[in-house]
Amino acid sequence: MRMWIASTVLGGIILKPIIFSGMQATGVPSLGNYIGAVKNWVALQQDYSCLFCVVDMHSITIRHNPTEFREKCRELLTLYIALGLDPQEHIVYFQSHVPAHAELAWILNCFTYMGELGRMTQFKDKSQKHEDNINAGLFTYPVLQAADILLFDTKLVPIGHDQKQHLELCRDIATRFNKIYGDIFTIPQDYIPPVGAKIMSLQEPTKKMSKSETANPNNVIYLLDPPNVISKKFKRAVTDSFNRIENNPEEQPGVTNLLTIYACATNQTVEQAATELANIGGYGNFKTKVGDAVVAMLEPLQKRYYELKADTAYIDEIISNNANRANQLAQTTLTKVKNAIGFIPK
Ligand code: TRP
Repeated sequence: MRMWIASTVLGGIILKPIIFSGMQATGVPSLGNYIGAVKNWVALQQDYSCLFCVVDMHSITIRHNPTEFREKCRELLTLYIALGLDPQEHIVYFQSHVPAHAELAWILNCFTYMGELGRMTQFKDKSQKHEDNINAGLFTYPVLQAADILLFDTKLVPIGHDQKQHLELCRDIATRFNKIYGDIFTIPQDYIPPVGAKIMSLQEPTKKMSKSETANPNNVIYLLDPPNVISKKFKRAVTDSFNRIENNPEEQPGVTNLLTIYACATNQTVEQAATELANIGGYGNFKTKVGDAVVAMLEPLQKRYYELKADTAYIDEIISNNANRANQLAQTTLTKVKNAIGFIPK
């Protein structure tokens, strides 16, 4: 497998279809991000050639603190490797290390209409939230995202529901460009995992567990929460007064969420987990059991994270090596695009 990326870089044959995934380094990833997304990505590495990109250029569309930001970006990349994303056979890198993202984004800006960007619901939401900073980058954010994806002949993009509109726009831009200049871009598709468990908030189990939750940290299990904090948060999780352990999202959202988490942590189906725990004797025991299972799943990953983090030289090397490989890969499409639109070759 190591072969293919190397051979692609050398102009050889790509053996597997490409997956591109971009993520922002805001907040510490949560148990919801791990179970709902990253765990699936780890599995996808078998059948696809993957690029996992920390999209730091997207993040500056919102005001931020540079020192914290630097730490967060490095933390996210290190954490992803600890969780099982493989920087040898695949590519895990920072967007800002590959200038081709910005170059292609500029070109695609000239093939995207104001009207299209004005319809993006994320733009509307973010402009409302950040009324004092509705900058042009926020407006063209989806064009940079399209560039991320199109740069690498991406076939599949694993995304949540909130990113569907951006992917649809990316497909429109690519199709428009191809109509004018021939088959330059691969048209990407979204990838929604077959069993994408959605993990809900521990205190308000009808809402999604969100890593950007700031109001009440008891809602969220952060992947780097120490074991005693994890146990405590599960003990405080909201349940109900039915006193039965069942997969019943409508009537028992809290219990169902805990059951789902337990099932994921122990690699069972929710039904199997319900059968196993049916007679555990009260919600107190139930919550302890779920907490223990999550600690058992996360402890080795956290240990690996702290080991990697301490090995600064190793992470530095991964950062630089992965950026080089991404840079080389990106040149193929970028050169095709530049030729197509009539830029004079260097
Ligand atoms: N906009 C995405 C988000 O907020 C992040 C992102 C940037 C992305 N570029 C991407 C996701 C390319 C998938 C593919 O979640």
